Amino acid sequence: MIEIRFIGADGTMTIVRGDNGFSLMEVAKRHGVTGIVAECGGSCACATCHVHVDPAWLEAVGGPGPGESDMLDFARGRRPDSRLSCQIRITPALDGLTVHVPESQG
Ligand code: FES
Repeated sequence: MIEIRFIGADGTMTIVRGDNGFSLMEVAKRHGVTGIVAECGGSCACATCHVHVDPAWLEAVGGPGPGESDMLDFARGRRPDSRLSCQIRITPALDGLTVHVPESQG
C-alpha cells in the first residue's frame, strides 16, 4: 500500500493508503477526501479533481499531458503545480506523495 497525504485548504491533513495502479482521484474518493468532487468519474472532462502537487513531489509526479492541460484551464486557481488527480497513477515511487486540495471546486 502506498501512502498519500491530502492537505485541505484549512490545513487539515488526511493520510490514506492506495493501491498501485489506481488513480489519485480514486483513492481520494474511496476515502472521502473533502474537496475532490470528480464529477466526470475520471474521464478528464470536468476539472473538479484538481490538486496542487507539493513542491517536493513535482518532479516525481511530472506535468500534465496536453489533454489534461487543456482541461486544467477550466479549474479554479490553476497554478504551475496544478494537476488533475484522476490523471495521476499511483506507483510505489509516489509513496508519501503530498498534494494540496484547492479551497473549493465543483
Ligand atoms: S474526475 Fe473529472 S477531470 Fe478528473
